This record gives sequence, C-alpha cells and structure tokens, in this order.
Amino acid sequence: MAQFSKEHHIGKIKSITSSAFIVSLDEDLYTMERTVDEKVYRIGQIGSFIVMPVGTVEVIGIINRAYQVSELNRELEAQIIGSVSDGKFQKGVATFPTLGGDVFMTDEESVSAMFTSFAQYGFAVGDISGYPGERQYIDPNKFFGKHIAVLGSSGSGKSTTVASILQKVQMFENTHVIILDIHNEYSAAFREYGNLINITELEMPYWFMNFEEMREMFVDENESSSQSQIMMLKDLVLNAKKARNQELQSIITVDSPVFYDLNEVRAKFQFYDTERISTSTGVREGPFFGQFTRFLVRLDSKMTDLRYGFMFRPKKFKDSNALKDILNRLLGLDNKKQITAIDLSGVPFDIVNTIVALLARTVFDFNFWNKNKKEFPILMLFEEAHNYLPQIPTPQNRAARKIVERIAKEGRKYGVACMIVSQRPSELSETILSQCNNFVILRLTNPADQNFVKKLVPDSFAGMFDMLPSMRQGEALFVGDATALPSRVQLDFPQPPPNSADILFYDKWVATEFPTNVGEVVDRWWKQERG
Ligand SMILES: Nc1ncnc2c1ncn2[C@@H]1O[C@H](COP(=O)(O)OP(=O)(O)OP(=O)(O)O)[C@@H](O)[C@H]1O
Ligand SMILES: [Mg+2]
Repeated sequence: MAQFSKEHHIGKIKSITSSAFIVSLDEDLYTMERTVDEKVYRIGQIGSFIVMPVGTVEVIGIINRAYQVSELNRELEAQIIGSVSDGKFQKGVATFPTLGGDVFMTDEESVSAMFTSFAQYGFAVGDISGYPGERQYIDPNKFFGKHIAVLGSSGSGKSTTVASILQKVQMFENTHVIILDIHNEYSAAFREYGNLINITELEMPYWFMNFEEMREMFVDENESSSQSQIMMLKDLVLNAKKARNQELQSIITVDSPVFYDLNEVRAKFQFYDTERISTSTGVREGPFFGQFTRFLVRLDSKMTDLRYGFMFRPKKFKDSNALKDILNRLLGLDNKKQITAIDLSGVPFDIVNTIVALLARTVFDFNFWNKNKKEFPILMLFEEAHNYLPQIPTPQNRAARKIVERIAKEGRKYGVACMIVSQRPSELSETILSQCNNFVILRLTNPADQNFVKKLVPDSFAGMFDMLPSMRQGEALFVGDATALPSRVQLDFPQPPPNSADILFYDKWVATEFPTNVGEVVDRWWKQERG
C-alpha cells in the first residue's frame, strides 16, 4: 500500500459519518496537483480514491464532490467504500478514521494493490477512469455466475459493453452463452465463435409451447368465454399429444414438449363451436355452441399468417425427436460454437415476448433436466428487457416475465444465469433486478432511472451515482461482488464490434452516393426480410 509520505498528504478529515466524510485540503495544494515518482497526479478528480490510515488498516474513500470554501480553503466530499488490511481489500469498515485524521492520495501502485485479490484470474474489462493504463479486474466466477444487469440510456454503449465482455470468454471450449438478439446486432461481433441462428429459418414449432404460453397467445382473458376456452384448450392439446406419442402416453402432460397436430385441435374446437344436438324434442345447441368463435378467429389468424410460419407451419420439425435437434442447435453443441446469437429481428413484433419466453424456458428446462448441469453453466442474455420483463406485466408478457423471474430466483441451482440489458431500469421487474449481484451501469440521463439504480446499491455508494449523466460512451460503473470496489471503467472496445454503431447523420447527408432502391425495400418488406 501507499507510503504515507508528505508528498502523498492531501488534507485532514473535517467531518465524518458512517458512510461519508469531508476532507479539508492542505493549503499548499493550490494547483490541485501532486508529483510522485515524476508522475503528475491531479487531486480531487471525481471518482478517484483517497486513503486514511487507521492503525494497521487503511480506509478507502471515493471522491464524489470537490468545492471551494474560501480562497485558500477547499474541500472534498467522499464516500467510504472499504478498507485494506494486510494488502487485501474488504468492503466495509471495522474502525473508522477520526476527526482531524490525515488523508492521502493514492498512486498507481496503491491502486493496483487494492485490486490484487480480484486480479488473480487476469480478467480485465477495461481501464479504470482517472488512472490511465490501470486495468479494472473482476472476478469472472462471481460476475457470470450470479445474474448481471447492464443498464444505460439509449446509445450509452450497452450492446458494445456486452460484446466486449463476452468476447473475453468466447474462445473457451466449454463456454455457453445464449443471446436473444432482438435487433440482430451481435452476429457481427461473434463471427468466429458465434453460433448464429436466425430463428425464423430454424423454426420454433408451436408444440414447444407449454400451456401458459399457448394461453397467452390464443386466449383473450377479457372474453366471457375465456374459462371455457382455457379448459377446452388444455383438454384437446393433452389428448392430441397423447394420440401422437403412444409410447409416452402415461407420462405426457399438457406442458410436455412433444409433437401434436394443431390442425386436429383446431378441428375439434370448430366442432364444439358449431355443435348441434338432436333430442326427442328437436335440435338444440351444444354446450359450447358459439363460445369458441373468436378463439378460432385468433387461432386462424396465427395459423394462416405467413409471418408466423416458422411456428405454426413447421417444415422440418414435425416429430417429437426434433426437440433434440433444436436443443443441439440452440446450445451450439452440433457445431461446437460457444456464443449462440439468436436473431429475433424477423419475429413479428406481437409475438416477440412469447418467443423470448419459449426460448428462455427451453434453455432453462434443458439444464433443469440435465444431470450434469453443474458442468454445463449457461448464461442467457436478454436485450431490451424492459419490453418483456416490465414491473407491471400485461397479459402479453406474463410468460416471459415468469420464466426470467424463475431463472433469476432459481437459476443459480441449475447453472443458468442471466444478463439483463435495458435502457429503462425503472420500468423493469424489481424481482429480477433485485436478484442481480453485479451491475454495469452506463450513462443514464433520465432522473427516474438514476434514482432507481441508486436504490439498488448500499447507501454508501449512492454518491457515486451523481456521475451517471456525465459518463462517456462505453464508460460504466461496475458495482457488485465481482469487483473490489465500485469503480468507474472505460470498457475495452470489442473487436469486431456489434452492428450497433451510431449513424452519423450529417456525414450520410453530405455523402453523394445514395444507393437506396425503393423496389428492393418494398420487396424485402413484403418478404419480411430484415437485417
Ligand atoms: N467502449 C466504447 N468505446 C468507444 N465507443 C463506444 C464504446 N461503447 C460504445 N461505444 C459507441 O457508442 C455507440 C452506441 O453503442 P451501443 O450500440 O452499444 O449502445 P446501446 O446502449 O446498446 O444503445 P441502444 O440502447 O440503442 O441499444 C456506438 O457507436 C459505439 O461504437
Ligand atoms: Mg443496444
């Protein structure tokens, strides 16, 4: 740790609480600079560390405010973040510094010392802001294994951050990461190790859905007959599954991922909807007469719409054994690839939620039933999570929220972790966020979101969050148990980057080449080809 020499001395403690303190700076520090070992350090930089010796322990603070009191009197306000004892950093403090205690700056050597215990894996994510060349190490076991939230305003650098971090693990043979790539940004970043899947080309057959997902897709709970629809759907699907899978008859439930023919189910609904029964007194309407008319309209609109073809008209996957093929494909086991990026950009907007739920549940269920789950940890990445994991769910995203909440709560036991990426943290499910142990927080400009993320961390760190609006692209606060201290980091830029770069409007407008072909756009629109 630092030599507490005169040249490191910057001031004395003027006031102190359990989480913060104020330092009155030495009068000779008028340039706010100190030279140590021929290196010039700027004192009082927001986000930089200061240190106070208390016996054999050094208490560490992080500066969040600097201000002038009078011409010769300047002060710093800092948060207490932990202490270093025997060269090891610990969060929290056992003995507090006292009023009038000496305060020292930290040089590169002492900053390195604070982070050594986290450097043992050599896993660095970027440079510590304010300490050029000083790498931010994290404990990758604690980081990947315990749910992560990546939060920041639009354009702050979330997708780039995710690509940068995942590129650091992509080359390991047994890495398993599944990205639900809503905008098809990630295929560009994982050309070599990526298992790139276009979900509409792969197909995601309807028979993968469990009952809750089916109900979300086909039943409108506002209709008076919704209870009959639910009951009938359950009955008919279960019977259709049993009929097509004789050998599994005794063990099949309505949730089993086995093939059945949806057309048969449809035909039975139609039958009950129009059933007339002859009795001795004449012909009367069946018990469900007219109750499924709207249900059938909804079902038909999905079954006949070309955009839903990858679910409702599977060409390849019409046999229960197809489940094995799809799992091999989704987990990258057939082509031995580590980072699966599932392109969801071609999925119709109204069923993105259901597909997310279906994919997340399929992966979770895989490890749930995998007896070697502990040897097969999977990280799932949820982009734009506020859309389908909201604090206030709607009937259209209940299934997605439910499965991700389940992963958040139980995933640890089954070797499934999630990385939640969102630009609107205040709209996200609190249950999910509260299960995250590590937060990567990029620039956040909206006050509601800033206040929300402040609540996620202990009070002693809250002051750091005042920096959020002023952070640069790709600069983040790393908070959580994978880092020694909450710290401000400029992340390494990924090579290659994801396909999410800012569009330079002015440069594009100035450019004379203008190759847009309306006919081609319309053609792609008709064919629903994006990307
Ligand atoms: N570490 C970094 N260094 C330099 N530039 C960066 C860094 N991270 C991101 N950027 C730049 O910032 C821009 C936005 O990045 P990105 O697409 O990752 O943001 P985002 O937060 O995912 O946005 P959105 O919410 O719209 O998805 C890109 O042009 C990217 O190149
Ligand atoms: Mg993004």
